[in-house]
Amino acid sequence: MDVVFLNGEYLPSEQAHLSVDDRGFLFGDGVYEVTPVYGGEPFRLDRHMARLRRGLRGLGIDYDVTGMKGIHREILSRNELKDEEMAVVYFQVTRGAAPRTHHFPPSDTAPTVYAYARRFARREAGEWNRGSSAITIPDSRWARTDIKTLQLLPSVLAQETARRREANDAIFVRDGIAVEGAHSNLFFVRDGVLLTHPASNQILPGITREAILELAGEAGIPVEERPLPSEELPEVSEVFLTGSTTEVRPVVRIDGRPVGDGRPGPVTRTLHGRFLDRIAEECGVALQTVA
Ligand SMILES: Cc1ncc(COP(=O)(O)O)c(C=O)c1O
Repeated sequence: MDVVFLNGEYLPSEQAHLSVDDRGFLFGDGVYEVTPVYGGEPFRLDRHMARLRRGLRGLGIDYDVTGMKGIHREILSRNELKDEEMAVVYFQVTRGAAPRTHHFPPSDTAPTVYAYARRFARREAGEWNRGSSAITIPDSRWARTDIKTLQLLPSVLAQETARRREANDAIFVRDGIAVEGAHSNLFFVRDGVLLTHPASNQILPGITREAILELAGEAGIPVEERPLPSEELPEVSEVFLTGSTTEVRPVVRIDGRPVGDGRPGPVTRTLHGRFLDRIAEECGVALQTVA
């Protein structure tokens, strides 16, 4: 039975109830985090907490994130996930429940805090090696995608379009620039240089993205953070996506055309390997290599 955290209590998920006046439900007025957990140890939880804190500040929601660590520990333990190779903790804060007004509710309205923890199946080696396919799609999101808000409708529609076109992922294109995936950051390799969109208001500053940039530096791979026009796509030799559940995912076809030679490339493999090693180091767990 799933045990979830809701407003200070741990309880079976079917006993967790929300007000219909909750602003998360009515407006998508809130932020969330998904933290990957390996062998019971959250990977870079401090970075997730810092991003949530920044998002809360951006939206003017008053919630102190310092309790998150204890909640993560407790919910993993109550769901008996400490020995799983991988799990995720979903953590959400909304502006709380109050009679519907567009402007903020009274300042004594308590935020709604919700978390769950579930086992997560990592991608198998065969699937990783086959690589993933993606479509490009116009980015119809708002202009603050650096905040991880609950308002995910453009990503939901993009992923559904990808599924209908029998692709695995969707890549958002804004003003001719391939910015990021519908739920992941986007990297390219062109002429041996690793390229990714600069951290700006147009992408989510991914915790995995940050780790990959750090690992590329350590591996001596040249990195350039610059916008990549989608018309340059035919020139790139490798493409991969990164994210907390995505890890490092090679993209071998975009809009039906092969990327490079249509197989995961050497830079993607190197960074993927180093990423798994870093997780093993920091979380103290031996991971099954998937590539
Ligand atoms: C739009 C978007 N970009 C990037 C990411 C990757 O971020 P992270 O590596 O912190 O999971 C996500 C994750 O959900 C996302 O939704």
